[in-house]
Amino acid sequence: MIRFDEVTYTYAGAPRPAVRELTLQLNPGEILAVLGANGSGKSTLACLVNGLLLPASGRVSVADMDTADESTMWDVRSQVGLVLQDPDDQIVGTVVEEDVAFGPENLGVESAEIRVRVDEVLAIVGLTGFERREPHLLSGGQKQRLAIAGALAMHPDYLVLDEPTAMLDSAGRESVLALIERLRAQGVGILFVTHHLADVIHADRAIVLDEGRVAFTGTPIELLGQEEVLASCGLEVPPLQRVESTLRAAGLPLPTGPLAVESIVEALCN
Ligand SMILES: Nc1ncnc2c1ncn2[C@@H]1O[C@H](COP(=O)(O)OP(=O)(O)O)[C@@H](O)[C@H]1O
Ligand SMILES: [Mg+2]
Repeated sequence: MIRFDEVTYTYAGAPRPAVRELTLQLNPGEILAVLGANGSGKSTLACLVNGLLLPASGRVSVADMDTADESTMWDVRSQVGLVLQDPDDQIVGTVVEEDVAFGPENLGVESAEIRVRVDEVLAIVGLTGFERREPHLLSGGQKQRLAIAGALAMHPDYLVLDEPTAMLDSAGRESVLALIERLRAQGVGILFVTHHLADVIHADRAIVLDEGRVAFTGTPIELLGQEEVLASCGLEVPPLQRVESTLRAAGLPLPTGPLAVESIVEALCN
């Protein structure tokens, strides 16, 4: 389990904390979506998970290991795959396969096994055939998928994805969302930062940050009903959910749970 207990973090020279008194938990096999406007503290939260940033006060732990404890720093990093918001910040290899191999090499995985993992994760993210390409020459979306491959190659228990769909087209977005669900089914715990509400409908829980504080915590469905929270946090309700909440408000007996277009049409026809 990943736990944040009353975590506050302030950047050097900043007038106020980027995250304040943050308390949350992420279990294995669970997707936690983190939403919020620009500057609300999402990326800071992401970097706190694996010890890249350390709390000024409060405590972050991964499988009972305190991220501030230097003696377990590598255990924490090996359990938590972090995909940064800007994939350029994460490129370490001169070619794609080297870049993906970097994490498992650091963990001491043997070279035959690394080869297998590199091929496997490049196939998962759709970059087979790109092994010898230079990462800097890839498109934004390809770099984003490369960063995900690098994290997956470490076979982490938890994955932290900071706006992993931001540079992808809709097909790329769908495939990343599908991948997240497959990983959840394999027991990986996923912290998924996004500012697209449509991305979070399959999350188990969602939190919304507002100026570094938790403004909402609940299920994605509950969140969609909180129009005031959404508006005050600069989040736009996706069209299908707008239709759904309008119909519910008008008294149409829609089934509960995430709705597809088909079930709305069916309810309308009956
Ligand atoms: N390296 C930094 N130095 C100083 N302030 C920063 C730095 N990175 C982020 N901040 C500030 O911290 C707050 C939270 O930023 P961030 O975590 O990046 O939010 P988000 O990812 O939700 O856009 C913002 O006010 C931002 O300006
Ligand atoms: Mg960010």
